[in-house]
Parts: sequence; C-alpha cells; structure tokens
Amino acid sequence: MTRLGIPGGISMNTKLLAWIDEMARLCKPDGIHICDGSQSEYEALCRLMIANGTMIRLNAAKRPGSYLCRSDPRDVARVEHRTFICSHNKGDAGPTNNWVDPKEMRETLDRLFDGCMRGRTMYVVPFSMGPLGSPIAHVGVEITDSPYVCVNMRIMTRMGQGVLDLLDGGGDFVPCTHSVGKPLAPGEADVPWPCNPDNLHVAHFPEDREIWSFGSGYGGNALLGKKCFALRIASTMGRDEGWLAEHMLIVGVESPRGEKTYVAAAFPSACGKTNFAMMVPPKGFDGWKIWTVGDDIAWIKPAADGRFHAINPEAGFFGVAPGTGMGTNPNAMAACSRNTIFTNVALTDDGDVWWEGMTDTPPSHLLDWTGKSWTPESGEPAAHPNARFTAPVEQCPSVDPDWENPEGVPISAFIVGGRLSRNAPLVVQAFNWAHGVYLGATMGSEATAAAVGQAAIRRDPFAMLPFCGYNMADYFNHWLNMGRKVKSPPSIFRVNWFRRDEDGKFLWPGYGQNMRVLKWIVDRVRGRAPAIESALGFVPDYEDLYWDAMEYPREKFDALMRVDPAAGVADARSQEELFDRFFDRVPKELLYERELLKSRLWRAPAVWEPAREG
Ligand code: GTP
Ligand code: SPV
Ligand code: MN
Repeated sequence: MTRLGIPGGISMNTKLLAWIDEMARLCKPDGIHICDGSQSEYEALCRLMIANGTMIRLNAAKRPGSYLCRSDPRDVARVEHRTFICSHNKGDAGPTNNWVDPKEMRETLDRLFDGCMRGRTMYVVPFSMGPLGSPIAHVGVEITDSPYVCVNMRIMTRMGQGVLDLLDGGGDFVPCTHSVGKPLAPGEADVPWPCNPDNLHVAHFPEDREIWSFGSGYGGNALLGKKCFALRIASTMGRDEGWLAEHMLIVGVESPRGEKTYVAAAFPSACGKTNFAMMVPPKGFDGWKIWTVGDDIAWIKPAADGRFHAINPEAGFFGVAPGTGMGTNPNAMAACSRNTIFTNVALTDDGDVWWEGMTDTPPSHLLDWTGKSWTPESGEPAAHPNARFTAPVEQCPSVDPDWENPEGVPISAFIVGGRLSRNAPLVVQAFNWAHGVYLGATMGSEATAAAVGQAAIRRDPFAMLPFCGYNMADYFNHWLNMGRKVKSPPSIFRVNWFRRDEDGKFLWPGYGQNMRVLKWIVDRVRGRAPAIESALGFVPDYEDLYWDAMEYPREKFDALMRVDPAAGVADARSQEELFDRFFDRVPKELLYERELLKSRLWRAPAVWEPAREG
C-alpha cells in the first residue's frame, strides 16, 4: 500500500510490524508507506508537498535542492504547557514538568488518535540517533502522517532502510507516534499546513520509553527524534544507565600549535548554541580554528580513559534563521546554501530566501513568512522570529573530522549560560564540580521565540527545564554523581553574552568575539591562564583576556564583570523559589553552595580584590 508509487522500506522485525499494524488500526490512514530513506523517496515526498502547496521549490541556481515551507501561524514553535511527562508517580516527573497520570493520558491519546489519519498516508520513519550501529546510538521509529516530518527527519537523523536492517538483527526501538491531528473527510481538500493546536499534546512515557505527539507539525513538537527522544527519553535512560543527555553544543578548539580541546556548552533555546558551535575566530586569532561536532544535543558518557566522551546524536541542524548572516555565522550560511528545508522565512522575488539579519539592507520586496507581500516599510518582521533551516551537518565547512566517531570526543570543559541583561558577569569558573553543578542548576534566562508559554525570566537549569524527562532535583543529583564517574571531572564555566547597559545596548559584542572567553577557558583547563578568586568563582582580570585586534576599554570590562553583592545575595535568595519546589529532593550540596555563596558575598567588596591564584 503506497500512495507514492515508489517502493518503500522492508522490515522483518515482528515487534515493528505488529506495532505498525496496531497503529494503522487506531489511526485508520488511507495508506501506509515505510520510508527507505532514499534520495528518490525524498524527492517524491517533496513533489507531493509542492503539489499540496506545503512546499515551494527555491531557485535552483541560488539555492540548489532547497525548499520553503510556511507553517500555520498557530503552529510556529514548541509549546511547553502542552508537553507532558507521564511517569507512574507524579514525583518522578517533578514540579517543573507537566505531569498527567499515564492511564489518563493513554485514554486521551486513544480518543485523539482514533481515526486521526483518515484521508492521509501513514509514514513509518525508522531512525538512528547517533551513527548507525554505533554502541552509543539508539534507534527510534516515528509513525507520522506528515510528509514534512519525513523529509526533515531524513536530514536530522540517520533515517531509512539501514535502520530497518539493523532492527532485523533483533534490535529494539523507541516507538514515537505523531499526527498533525487533522483527518480529511472523503473529498475534503487538504490545507498547506494541517495542524490541530486546540488539541495539542506532546506526551512522554519515560518508564515505557514511548512518545506520542498530536496536533503540531513544527520542530520539537513533531520531529520526535530531537527533544522528545534525544533529550526527554534519553535523559531518563542516562539516569538509569549512568550517562548524560544534554541540551549542549560540542566544539573542538584548535590552537595554532595544533592542540585540540573539546568543550560542551548548554545555552537555552535561541541563546547562541548554533553560533558558538560554528564560531569563526576573529582578527587577532591567526592559526586558531573551531571545529563543529554538534549544535544542540550532546550524549555524554564516562569512557575507559577516565574522561567524559560526547557524541552528537543528530545528523542535521534545525537552526534559528533570523540573526544568521555572513557576518555573524558564515559556516551556518554555507551549511544552508543547498539541500536545505527552510520553514517560516521570507521568499525573495527571484526565488531565494531572506530573514532579518541575513543582510544589512533588506530586499526592497519580499513575500513574508505568511506569504503576504512585504516591503521594508511594512513594519513587521519578514521572517518569523523562530524561523528555522534544516540542513545536513556534513555541509558545515567547520565540521569536525571526528563528528561521527562512535567513541565520541573527549570533553575538557563544560560551559553553561543564559540570556541575562543584568547582574550576570561575562564568565566565571566554578571552584569545583559541586560548585559547577550549582552554577548550572541556578542558571537564569530571559524568554525567546523558540517556545511559546515561557515566563519573561526564569531559572532554566542546564538549559534543560523544558527537556528533562524526570524530576529535576534527581537530575541535579545525577550530575553530582557523574562527577565521580571520571578521574578528574572537567571544569565548569558559566558565561553570559547578553548583558546590557543602561541604554539597553549589549555590553559585549558576542559572536566571534566570544572566542576571547573560549580561549581563556581552554587556557584555564590546560593550567596556563591566571584568574582572580571572586565571590562568584574564578574570574579573569582585564589583562587575563587576550585583547589583540580588539578595542575594549577596561572600564567597560569592569561593568561587564561586576556583580553588586546586594544583587548577588538577592539572586541567591530567589533561588529558593526553584529549590523549594523540590522539597527535600534537592541535593544538600546545592543548598550548602548557596549558603557559601551568600557568605562570600556578604564579605565581598563592591569590586573584588585582585587576590591572584594560579
Ligand atoms: P535552539 O536551536 O533553539 O536550541 O537555539 P540555539 O542556542 O542554537 O540558538 P542560536 O545559536 O540559533 O541563537 C539564536 C539567537 O541568538 C539569535 O537571535 C542570535 O542573534 C543570538 N546570538 C547568538 N550568539 C550571540 C552572541 O554572542 N551575542 C548576542 N548578543 N546574541 C547572540
Ligand atoms: C529548541 O527549542 O531548543 C530547539 C528547536 O532546538 S526545537 O527543535 O523546535 O525544539
Ligand atoms: Mn535546542
């Protein structure tokens, strides 16, 4: 049964075949197609979506092999308040997750999915998170009625017959069921972006390792290998098995001497992971090179050499388009120069794409992300702020030669950081592992367009608040324990690129200039950079950062680094709002760290004394 008129994938895995059968009986699609992941299948799906009005083929001379999709304006980002963790006990989901009793959720889903694919094809999308067959990879199968999901999954994961062959050998998989939630009555015409926002559910069953998503076709709501599997389900697997699934980029920093240092960094959604992962060292950094391993998710395991090794479980970037340009991120621009799916960007008159920040001067005429005629006078952004490009990792010019190494890359430092306009210094280094976990656990960040239903400013521990599949207090404890699984745990740093002055202007230029902070971090972990001991942690003095080819006055640096002790104490006190929610589940270490911080701040001078160490 295939409506594509092309052969599909073949499987002999009885569990898979039985599950497909069961889902077909529930969802009642018109046809079933098992994806083989071939180029011809990809193109057939794109042709189908062009005919449906879901996709527009871009000008092949400007953007070969690339397409534009415009979503329903009600379906433009992850929806956190409709995302659920359905563990048996409410306490295992914890106070920061939306919990629903699994039995109750299954009843709701049975009702929602009954007949939800009428008039549509049910696609079976076998995928591997991590290199095919690698010991650290995990397999999932997504059943979906969205061809958009199929083609995006082909870029974002290793998808197709290779995975089915692997399952024939008897392997297990995580079942992921997805529907846009818009069945078609006989003869009913489809819309370009079917969805059902009023009945949206993104549900996870951590104990059964199952994912069900209904009502959205966008990003993390629908590409179930990404946030649902590689973070929420994988984080619970990591807790049980002794590893970490993190919302982190992974980069290799190569010095002019050819020495390579890998770091992993957690920034919340739309806070600069992709930019940092593909950074081009600025003027003054001759011979330095940044290598990209991943831009969103890291799976981190203690390895036989006594160190943490990290892999990127994804095969593509689902990157924020606005703000990406040749000036800010040329590697991302190259990565999405061909074979890319764009969602909710603007269309130029010559069939190419555009978004705010791609060029300094906007084109004089565009069709905006909703398809309406747009000029620079329109007064509204041409691209949606959460517009995205889906592009293969291997197209990124800075891709690390080891990005697919099944052993992963050894991590020398962890970086965490939010988006904070005030009171957070450019960089601090934790005194030790427990203090570092405390820095990660108490991270704050301001809202972005990557999710709807976020508070203006919130604690976002390790950038995992929307992605931790279990009780976050247990997650903190897991981090503390993981430090004991390696010989000498990596140093943890907290950064903030987003501090503003009184006029609301960024104090720090960011982007490539973040290399200066990264160099200090690398030099610190290699034991060759000085630092000052402050109340917050080790910090660089002005002279400790490398300033070649950059004018940045000492006074401005002081303003960027300074934390008023009273504001610091107020912030430490406000952490109770987070910690109190977990009652006695919060590890004691974190409460002691908070008290130690408060006592250090009480004694701190307005500006720290230059008491040198190292
Ligand atoms: P997700 O894919 O949503 O997880 O996010 P991400 O962390 O990969 O986001 P991305 O790197 O795409 O960040 C997008 C936003 O951050 C854009 O608005 C950028 O302009 C902004 N940004 C990135 N790096 C910097 C920086 O160093 N300084 C400033 N001020 N803005 C930055
Ligand atoms: C994020 O929101 O952190 C993303 C985008 O990386 S999405 O895949 O839509 O969740
Ligand atoms: Mn992300």
